[in-house]
Amino acid sequence: MPAGNVVLVGFMGAGKSACGRLLARRLGRCFVETDDVIVARDGRPIPEIFREDGEEAFRRLEAEAVEALRLKSGDVIATGGGLPCRAGRMEALRELGTVVWLRGDLAELLARAARTGARPMLNGRTPEELESLYRAREPYYARAHLTVDTVGLGVDQVVGRILAALREAHAARV
Ligand code: S3P
Repeated sequence: MPAGNVVLVGFMGAGKSACGRLLARRLGRCFVETDDVIVARDGRPIPEIFREDGEEAFRRLEAEAVEALRLKSGDVIATGGGLPCRAGRMEALRELGTVVWLRGDLAELLARAARTGARPMLNGRTPEELESLYRAREPYYARAHLTVDTVGLGVDQVVGRILAALREAHAARV
């Protein structure tokens, strides 16, 4: 694992930001979010990028953010929910370090996603459309090195599971 980052992937509401922040603190590492990289580089908040330029433009900014992250090593990186779900993206993320999928139950993910933050991908979509978006994304997330189940768990418990999974994976490699 050359760059040695820990990369969190998963659907909106999976807890990538909250768990990533705590995980970084526990590991004594820096925390980076792809959404923050995009906002810092572009200068506009994400809903505005979607509104003014559309989803495809945002996905191109995500590709640039992944390129920029190639300079990182040893960090904890939280990705936007749609970032891994394009051709070649999971491969690029796997080159950055150990990729961990925070898997959840769709109803729980959506309830959490609706509570926090502005998420353009949730706007105007029916429950059926959101379910098919989730199903279409699952095969990408499933290519992570490790999967951690988050159903019914709080941030602290999820971070405990991530740490255990990382330790186990590391032990298996040596
Ligand atoms: C998106 C998820 C968001 C953000 C953008 C698009 C998506 O990040 O990148 O609104 O396509 O699922 P979170 O997963 O942190 O909500």
